[in-house]
This record gives sequence, C-alpha cells and structure tokens, in this order.
Amino acid sequence: MCGVIGYVGKGASPEFFFLGLKRLEYRGYDSTGIAMVFDGKIHVQRAEGKLINLHEKLQHLPSRANIGIGHTRWATHGRPTEDNAHPHVSGHIALLHNGIIENYREIKNFLQEKKYVFLSDTDTEVAAHLLHYEFSLEQKNTSHNNILAMKNAILNVVKTIKGTFAFGIISSLIPDVLFTAKYASPIIIGLGENENYIASGMTALIDHTKKMIVLDDYELAILKQDSYEIFDFQGNKIEKNILSVDWSAQMLEKNGFSHFMLKEIFEQPEAVAQSLNSRIDPIDYHVFLEELGIKNTNVLLFEKIQIIACGTSFYAGLLAKFYLEKFCCLTVEVELASEYRYRYSTSNNKTLVIAVSQSGETIDTLQAIKVAKENNAQTIALVNVRGSSIGRICDDESIMHAGPEVGVASTKAFSAQVVSLLLLALGFAEKRKTISKETLSCNIDNLLKVSSYIEKTLKESDKINQISQKLVAEKSVLFIGRGPQWPIAMEGALKLKELSYIHAEGFAAGELKHGPIALIDENLYVICIAPKDAYYEKVYSNIHEIKSRGGKIIAIGFEGDKDLESISEHFIGISPCEEIILPFLTSAVLHLLAYWTALNKGCDVDQPRNLAKSVTVE
Ligand code: F6R
Repeated sequence: MCGVIGYVGKGASPEFFFLGLKRLEYRGYDSTGIAMVFDGKIHVQRAEGKLINLHEKLQHLPSRANIGIGHTRWATHGRPTEDNAHPHVSGHIALLHNGIIENYREIKNFLQEKKYVFLSDTDTEVAAHLLHYEFSLEQKNTSHNNILAMKNAILNVVKTIKGTFAFGIISSLIPDVLFTAKYASPIIIGLGENENYIASGMTALIDHTKKMIVLDDYELAILKQDSYEIFDFQGNKIEKNILSVDWSAQMLEKNGFSHFMLKEIFEQPEAVAQSLNSRIDPIDYHVFLEELGIKNTNVLLFEKIQIIACGTSFYAGLLAKFYLEKFCCLTVEVELASEYRYRYSTSNNKTLVIAVSQSGETIDTLQAIKVAKENNAQTIALVNVRGSSIGRICDDESIMHAGPEVGVASTKAFSAQVVSLLLLALGFAEKRKTISKETLSCNIDNLLKVSSYIEKTLKESDKINQISQKLVAEKSVLFIGRGPQWPIAMEGALKLKELSYIHAEGFAAGELKHGPIALIDENLYVICIAPKDAYYEKVYSNIHEIKSRGGKIIAIGFEGDKDLESISEHFIGISPCEEIILPFLTSAVLHLLAYWTALNKGCDVDQPRNLAKSVTVE
C-alpha cells in the first residue's frame, strides 16, 4: 500500500525522494507527492498516476533541502487525483499518511466549525488540519517550544483518531526536525551519517544505510540530523534496538531480467537453498529448529496447528498442511486471515498458530495473530522481512530467507515459504517422535535436491512462453490438481488472474463432477497438473472427462508420459522426482505461464492494476 519516505540531514535533492519512492513502487500506488521545507516555506509537488508524472514536476521543487517527505498513495478515501495525493498541507505543516482514519467525518465536522477549509476528499487531510489546530493550542501551553508543542500535538492527534496510521510530518516552523508516529502501518527509521530517514519499508533506505530501527505501534519518533528520540504515546522516552540489515541495493536491481517477477522466478533455486541453509544436518539427518527461529515455542505442547495467511501465502499453508499432518500426526487447519479474525476462534494454549506472510505487514494476518495471542495460543511468524510487524508480535520469528521480493506477485517467496514449512513439519515431527529416522533422512535428501530440479524446470521457459500465447485471448481458464497439487492449481489460477486479468479458478480435480464440469466446452482451456504421484490415475480419469466434453487440455506431467501428452493440446514436462519435490516444479511452471501470458497480453507484470505488494489496509 502507500509508500513513505522522509529525510532530515545535511541536504537532499528532489531526486533523492523520487528514487526512494521508486524503491517503494512495487507496493502499488496511484498518485504521488513530495514536500520539502526550504527558505522558511513548504514546497509541495504532487501528481496523479505513476512516478514518472511526478518526475516532470521535480524542477519546481527547491534543488536541495535539509528536510522533506515523499509519498506514493494507494487510494482508499477519494479518487487517485492530484488534489487527493499526499502530502497534505495545513498552514506551516505538511503531513503524509499510510492507513485509514475511520472517524474522519466527525473530526472534519469539528474542524469545519473551526473554519478549516478542505481541498481534498481524503481522510488524511483531516489529520493535517487537526495537527495544525492542536499545535496552535500546544504552542501556548509550551511557551512556544515548537518541538515540544509538535510532540504534544501529535500525541493529542493519535489519541483522537480511530484507525490505522503511519505519519510523516514536517513543519516550516521547525525546519530541522522530522516527526513520525505509527499504529498498525509500518515505519522504519534509518540512521545515517549526519542524516536520518523514515520509510515504510527497508527497501527505500538500503541505498543509504544498513542501520535501522523498526518503530512499534503506539510510538512516536523525533528525528534531527544527528540525533533521534523515540517516545511511547504517553510521552515517555524509550530505547530501541538498532537492526543491521543484510539486504543489499544490488538485490533490488533487475540484473538483466526484463522484470522483477521473471528475475524472482529464476531466483527460486537460490531462495530454496537459502531457506535450507544451516537449518539441516545432511549427514546425521537432523533439523535445527533453533536455526529456523524456533526458540520460545514448546514443540511438545501443542495438540493442533492453525496456519493463517492471505493469498499466495495461504496456498503455501494449504500445501504444508499435507506434510504437517502426515509427519506430525496432528490436525492442521489452514485459515484465511481475513476470516479468522472475525470468527469465533477455537485456538487455546494447546494450539500452535503459524502466521505465514512474505511482507510480515499484511494487516489481516497481523490482526488474526492478535486474536490467537488473546487465546493464549503459541505463535510463530514465518516471514521474509526481518523486524516486520507480524514477526515482532509472535513468540517466534522464522525468516524464510527468499531475499527481497519486488514483483507484486509472490513467486520466490512462495517456494521459500513451502520449504520453510516443510522444515518445520520435519523438525516438529523429529522432536515429537512421530517420524522414523528413515522417513526423515529420505525427506531431507529430497529437499536438498529441490533447487537443482527447479533449475531444470526453468529451462522450459521458452516453451511455456509459446503455450501462453494460446491463453492471451481467453476470457476464462480452469486449473485442476489433486492432493498437494490442488493448492498449486489455486496458486496458478491466482497468478494468472492477478497478472493478466483473465478469469481463472483452481479446483480439486475430484470436485469437477460436483459442478465445475458444467463449464467445460470446446472453447475452454483447462490446465491439468498430473505428475505421476499417488493421485495420478484419478487425475488422468478427470482429464479424460474433460477431453470427452471437448475441453482443451494443457497438461503438466512427467517427461516421457506419452499417454498424458497424447490427450493434451499442449504438454509441459517436468523431470520425474519424489512427491515432496513436485509442488516446487509445478508452481514454477505456473508462475512462468502467468508471467508470459501477462507479458504477451501487454499487461504490467511487476505492478498489476489495483494491487499492492504489502496490504496494510483491510
Ligand atoms: C499473490 C500475492 C498475494 C500475497 C498476499 C499476502 O501473488 O502476492 O496474494 O500473497 O497479499 O501477502 P503476504 O505474504 O505479504 O502476507
């Protein structure tokens, strides 16, 4: 969702803010803006649409300033127009916001009575004017100590508003201090040499510093060029840990690939290898749970596992259910976080709840894990971004080590999530003694082969590109799979619809007869995932049922499967392998299929319409 960047220091150009916002572009946005304080005045430029439109206006900003803020807006209240873009200005104050102010109407009424004039339809402008109003009162209370007045005014504002927020605030009356405060939306503080920063994600800052502080909910920070102070919402000063970030700026480049998504698909072998790295003993066959971040969880205590997640992370959870149940002999429920948080939850102190989230910031998953915590469940966060909100709230934080994922559609993080969940399944089973040494060693050996199998599968990219051209003009496509390939079918459908805007659904192949088969005719493509696993014969029969109704089959199966190839219009072969390796290969094929279809259709692959990388509003 919205991207935030802020700077205070010896001097930054408009290009600095622009490039910071570029780093956050992947989050999804529809308007942009920058405000800088120079010569005792606030200078603002805003633009509708993509950052390129803002770039044309940078010349109207001061060439350098000691302080400024920049924003990419993902519209919630008010259309994505220039007037609604942030920062919003109220007198000497410029403010930007990521989140939603729910009680903005009543605050707006109050401010209109005080003669404030509103120029936008946003909830954010309310916060800017309210802050201006509170600041004027606090100036009198603090004998014009402007920093203290602003601190108190912000504390008053955050107590008045209901909703979620991460604010970036500058004032021409205090031209050397940057303020921020947050609840539920992320804010990272970057510490530089004679300059300090704020941003909504680490990626905006790693060109400048590796030293970062993650602001927690109900915290306010006051940043100057050479110092920073952090307070709770009662106004008490607090100390925070400084993180040293191991991501590099190089990791955020396309490195010769035409899109981040393609690069990230091709990084899957490495993502899997990194997720396994130092977490298994390949000689004595042992899973190091501590290396997976499992330090506080009592692995012998839980009697049930719940996995909560959204989107692709949810499908990774559904897939992991097969293995957690099989290896740990436990009931595993996989729940959409947006449903879990509003439903009666049966979790208790005998439940382990695993929140799966690439970004670690997805608001539904964050709120759902709070419900689990209220019920005294043990909680593990499986996240890709260290220091994320979900990671910090859970008892244990397990990092999946996929490396930064920039493409909006999740690809390498999916593989890293699956391999990490499989490691947890094996590690729990080992500790709970529900797996034989032989099964454990066999599965560890197989996981070690996953990367090289994915590499082989990715060689099919050109062939998949050709096949994708058949889908470009389609209105609707079905995906089917059974067992562990059912979540993969749903993942493939999600990728196709989000990237190429073609309607797509993934079904458990056995469910076809219970309704979806009515959709089949000679115009419909069905992507059938049919490797030679335990479900092969059944899926093969389902494929025949589709074929006999005229459906057009694109099959994914084992190389050399002549029967499957002969009944398919198109066939994509993967190397024969063990069952646990299969989902990594079939998902890689479907990620490529979605990528090429979208590209051949002329869609924006890295930033599909209406989508955001980090979904921080409900
Ligand atoms: C789809 C996709 C989304 C995310 C979902 C959860 O390609 O990327 O469905 O998987 O928004 O995001 P995280 O994993 O960050 O919680």
